[in-house]
Amino acid sequence: MGLVDANSAGYVHGGTVMKLCDEVAGLAAIKHSRCRVVTAGMDRMTFLEPIHVAELVTFTASVNAAWRTSMEVGVRVDAEQPRDGLVRHTNTAYLTMVALDEDGRPTEVPPLEAVSEDERRREREAQTRRRNRLAERDELQRDRSA
Ligand SMILES: CC(C)(COP(=O)(O)OP(=O)(O)OC[C@H]1O[C@@H](n2cnc3c(N)ncnc32)[C@H](O)[C@@H]1OP(=O)(O)O)[C@@H](O)C(=O)NCCC(=O)NCCS
Repeated sequence: MGLVDANSAGYVHGGTVMKLCDEVAGLAAIKHSRCRVVTAGMDRMTFLEPIHVAELVTFTASVNAAWRTSMEVGVRVDAEQPRDGLVRHTNTAYLTMVALDEDGRPTEVPPLEAVSEDERRREREAQTRRRNRLAERDELQRDRSA
């Protein structure tokens, strides 16, 4: 991370981290669907610890669940101090990406094959986040039309 990524105290902007999370999530979703994708939502962005200028930052994305046309992508962010090799887990993000066809309409994505215990846990947790998001949307809609 360079000077332009940070504020005057040397802390990397949250928006910079979010933009990079969005980019890697998009790439993971493209690789899974082999389609172009758009970001439909960011369910969560956690800032656990600050990232400082001159740290080497790694973004690791995985498709956690695939539904009809949408996918949840989880992104883990780690910051490394290059001089001592100390690595810190700084952020976690969950984004929903939607695959689009040539006409820009949502299109079906391949199912996800969760094999390992970690993959199955990530899929279960993604299902919970989707259920909660849809339940919240329904509750807010009911409240507005009451
Ligand atoms: C995302 C988008 C394509 C959805 O279009 P839509 O007409 O609502 O399409 P649908 O109702 O068929 O929904 C398509 C999928 O998107 C999901 N979706 C729609 N809005 C969502 C939201 N706010 N959060 C999470 N998922 C959402 C639906 O659940 C559905 O998933 P599923 O097929 O797996 O069940 C459309 O809202 C859009 O183009 N938004 C702008 C995207 C954008 O500009 N992003 C930033 C630049 S990449």
